[in-house]
Amino acid sequence: MAYGKKVMDHYENPRNVGVLDKNAKNVGTGMVGAPACGDVMRLQIKIDDNGVIEDAKFKTYGCGSAIASSSLLTQWVKGKTLDEATKIKNSDIAEELSLPPVKIHCSVLAEDAIKAAINDIKSKI
Ligand code: FES
Ligand code: FES
Repeated sequence: MAYGKKVMDHYENPRNVGVLDKNAKNVGTGMVGAPACGDVMRLQIKIDDNGVIEDAKFKTYGCGSAIASSSLLTQWVKGKTLDEATKIKNSDIAEELSLPPVKIHCSVLAEDAIKAAINDIKSKI
């Protein structure tokens, strides 16, 4: 399948690939898998004293659309509060990246991952 321009950009130059210390109190980790294809995504966020997301990292074992979705999401959540980050929908990601219908689940993976990361951090604070 041909990938769109924005997907290729994130795929070739993924933003914020990496790891944060999952044991830190101000770090939340979301690890999710896509039943549709077996791809796995880990998304982590770090909040500052005001509850604002100051850093985000991801590692995705999956297709180009999954990598692009998580890369874009790490960019979007920086500077947002947890509540603001919760409001990001997979459809926003799919629209921004012009994902075709068969790749929508890749953006769902990203939404699930950020929600899981937020729940993880809320369970710590
Ligand atoms: Fe799993 Fe996309 S189908 S890599
Ligand atoms: Fe399965 Fe993209 S995450 S094809």
